[in-house]
Amino acid sequence: MSLVVFPFKTEDPDVVLTNLRIAASHAAVSKVLAIGFEEESTFAAIQESRRDIARHTSTPVDLILQDRIGDLRPGKGDGMNTGLRYLLSETDSDRIHFYDADITSFGPEWITQAEIAADRGYDAVRHFFPRSSTDAMITWMITRTGFALLWPSTELPRIEQPLGGELLFTRSVAEALVADDRVQAQSNWGIDTLYTFATVQSGFSVYETYVEQGKAHALYGGLTDLKTMLVECFAAIQALRGETVGESVNHEVEATAPVPPSITEKVGYDIEATLRMPGQRWNDRQVELLDSFPEAVRTGVLENRHSATFAFMDEEAWADTYSVLLESFEPGDDDWEELLFKLWVIRVLNYTTTRALRGYEHSQRYLRATISDYTERAVL
Ligand code: DGY
Repeated sequence: MSLVVFPFKTEDPDVVLTNLRIAASHAAVSKVLAIGFEEESTFAAIQESRRDIARHTSTPVDLILQDRIGDLRPGKGDGMNTGLRYLLSETDSDRIHFYDADITSFGPEWITQAEIAADRGYDAVRHFFPRSSTDAMITWMITRTGFALLWPSTELPRIEQPLGGELLFTRSVAEALVADDRVQAQSNWGIDTLYTFATVQSGFSVYETYVEQGKAHALYGGLTDLKTMLVECFAAIQALRGETVGESVNHEVEATAPVPPSITEKVGYDIEATLRMPGQRWNDRQVELLDSFPEAVRTGVLENRHSATFAFMDEEAWADTYSVLLESFEPGDDDWEELLFKLWVIRVLNYTTTRALRGYEHSQRYLRATISDYTERAVL
């Protein structure tokens, strides 16, 4: 039987309670656990309703606060690691599922699909879903790019959504992740990268199951909303760069289906607000830090102080830029963090205007081909 975990911060309580109810009603689930970041209004709403859900479904619903486990910013990583530890110390369940609490398209089939793959013997099951051509920009430009450049012949660059938080792990995967100090230290947004990396590095088998209707939740506004996530996801990859990963992992990806217009026609971020960003918040130190980059990149980036300039940041320029960042970026240094953010925004604007504009199919083919090309030009 399985434990289903929903880490949450402040969300729409109706959405969260619906999701808790769906999980508690599932025949494969013996317990549901909600893990809050702090005691706020969503926490209070769950506290009030959880016994009622348990009575109607005959499945206990527990509610706890996340522990302070890691040593980086306290965030999603502490929440998920609290769930793994709870599985091992408070239950004898042989599987754990994680789902974001704010998904409005969540349904019992998310749990069923993962259970079927686990019944077939897979150690880890990852949900993946269609995303709009301008969504997933950290996934493509940071995580999949980094996996391709650093571990080109492994399964890592072939994982569809390495930042996905919808997962199933068997108890032995949970034990390995709890025993892994790198994973336990990763208290922030870098946790998804660490879970993906550590499961593949340990040789656990991975099945990716396709959720056709997509993951409906709030999209971001201007890309600044994503700065913290960007920095933490890049720093997580950078910290792993000396690691070796074996090539033989059993990894299967489920066939996909035609993508609905609600996704192919969606714009993932506010382009107008984003266009202004690389021109803002400059200082002399950031200009100096640009000296380590190829001349064409340095000149192109600096031009943004006068007008939005991004035609130069194609996939080749980005791979060169990324390689310099892997060597030189310093997490926690405000100027490096701001420069990483500007470079990434410039890359996203280049991709949006040269590729995403040409349509959903074109952009998906382009992103996949780029990752595949990167695996041929490894930096290690
Ligand atoms: C990503 O890039 O996958 C982040 O979730 C932002 O969309």
